[in-house]
Amino acid sequence: MAKPKVFIARKLPDEVVEKFKENMEITMWDSEEEPVDRTRLLQEAGQCDGLITMLTDRVDDELMDQGKKLKIIANMAVGYDNVDIQAADKHGIQITNTPDVLTETTADLTFTLLMAAARRIIEANEHIKEGKWENWSPLFMAGTDVHHKSIGIVGMGRIGQAVARRAKGFGMEILYHNRSRKEEAERELGASYHSFDDLLEKADYVVCLAPLTEETRGMFNQEAFKKMKSSAIFVNASRGALVDERALYEALVRGEVKAAGLDVFEKEPIDADHPLLGLDQVVCLPHIGSASTETRTAMMELCLENTWKVLNGEKPKTPVN
Ligand code: DGY
Repeated sequence: MAKPKVFIARKLPDEVVEKFKENMEITMWDSEEEPVDRTRLLQEAGQCDGLITMLTDRVDDELMDQGKKLKIIANMAVGYDNVDIQAADKHGIQITNTPDVLTETTADLTFTLLMAAARRIIEANEHIKEGKWENWSPLFMAGTDVHHKSIGIVGMGRIGQAVARRAKGFGMEILYHNRSRKEEAERELGASYHSFDDLLEKADYVVCLAPLTEETRGMFNQEAFKKMKSSAIFVNASRGALVDERALYEALVRGEVKAAGLDVFEKEPIDADHPLLGLDQVVCLPHIGSASTETRTAMMELCLENTWKVLNGEKPKTPVN
């Protein structure tokens, strides 16, 4: 019997893909850096039984409509705001994502951003490398303490809770806001539930980890930044579109918010002349939350396992719909 056809929308390491070739006929886009060409993706959707897509690919009705025998689209991210789930349901296509395997790595990066912004790590590093370090002085590169401060986590899912565990180790008071109460986190981490506004007013660190949905889009707007303490540090490791970047820029320039750590942006890659990149008090990263070799490999393997399971008539490990 002919093997099912699968197309991967980015070049993945051969050694990861190789072991799945026994069961599936796998082809890949030929670049690791450049997203797949839309025409090619549409064409592959029309011929394949399974697709593995990246968060940079638009998985919409047009794409799924091509799929004469398409059964599964495995999206290599925990977030799936690039996928039209209603359209997938309409076409009877299984969507999967990559939760769990990236939780701890993404929490590590989120906490790194928080600490880097608080302790001015990037500014200090640039200062020394540019040969500007001339002296020690009492308030030279003085940042803000992290330990025993309060952290307000917006989006208390798996990654939010993993960040809360790290915060607990730093003796921080943990506040959270979420669609539903997380009783386990309240019991085990001593986290307290707050309304969004209350959290903004009380937290020393406001950390955005909520998924991008129609309800959360733009929730960190001018009004939200105005409610934060002027000493607050804002961190976003979720999706850029939750934040009104102009409002954040203005809040930082006016001193309504002290600093920010951002791993995600409204437009990715962000333009090199974006005003936020010009601010010393902003630490910016190019969407690398889950980017450790171990975790990215686990995400690739999970996508391939999910794809094979569905094509073999089994339930996928991590279904979305
Ligand atoms: C995700 O999985 O959604 C992350 O943003 C990718 O690193």
